[in-house]
Amino acid sequence: MRPLIIIGNWKMNGSLAVNADWVKTVCRGMEQGMPAGRQYAVCAPFPYLAQCSQLIQDCSLAFLSLGAQDVSAFESGAYTGEVAASMLKEMTCKYVLVGHSERRQLHQETDELIAEKALQVLDSGMTPVICVGESADERNSGREVEVVRGQIAKQVAVLQDRLADCLIAYEPIWAIGTGQVASAQVAQDMHRAIRLQLAEFDGDVASHVGILYGGSVKPDNAVELFAMPDIDGGLIGGASLNPQDFLAICQA
Ligand code: PGA
Repeated sequence: MRPLIIIGNWKMNGSLAVNADWVKTVCRGMEQGMPAGRQYAVCAPFPYLAQCSQLIQDCSLAFLSLGAQDVSAFESGAYTGEVAASMLKEMTCKYVLVGHSERRQLHQETDELIAEKALQVLDSGMTPVICVGESADERNSGREVEVVRGQIAKQVAVLQDRLADCLIAYEPIWAIGTGQVASAQVAQDMHRAIRLQLAEFDGDVASHVGILYGGSVKPDNAVELFAMPDIDGGLIGGASLNPQDFLAICQA
């Protein structure tokens, strides 16, 4: 059985005061009891990782951990402004997002670069969360499966068996930050397509890999999404900024 994994992505939001309040509120809520066998994490901006690491350690809930939103494709050296996977590991990160659509669009990240980043994350003993998803135009022209298959194929080519230690996040671009969530069935169909594609490579890998859904997940649609057989959790943007909403999604 794949565990349900729910990861918050604060994107470029937060402050020392807001983060402290958020972690304390979520910890207090989670201490009241959470559904068994799930994992939760929050991906904070780089400058706040040390703070959030300490706050999360202070609350010492085994199922709550820290993540980062990006990583360098290089190990170390003269790469001004980059952050190495080993640094994220030292900050106690467990998960690292790679290839979020905002990075693909705004920073021209390619599938090849994203696979290199995923390798760095794996080599440092963390779990990459590899984000894929089609645009509105691509879906409207009926090419959504082809587009996502293309993105996944590049990851399979580079990562091979190591994909078993990754998570995939299906995030249709038209659903991110728009309030226009994919219906549970639309999301399930794509998750199924991804799993079948992985099975073409290796049945074991396909059954191990958690596939999270992201894009306008809210407390009122999370239950239906997470009930789908190939949806193994969620990547939560906007709704993760409000600790009460995040808690409600984690309890869904
Ligand atoms: P959203 O973002 O929940 O605000 O749609 C999801 C994401 O970008 O990971």
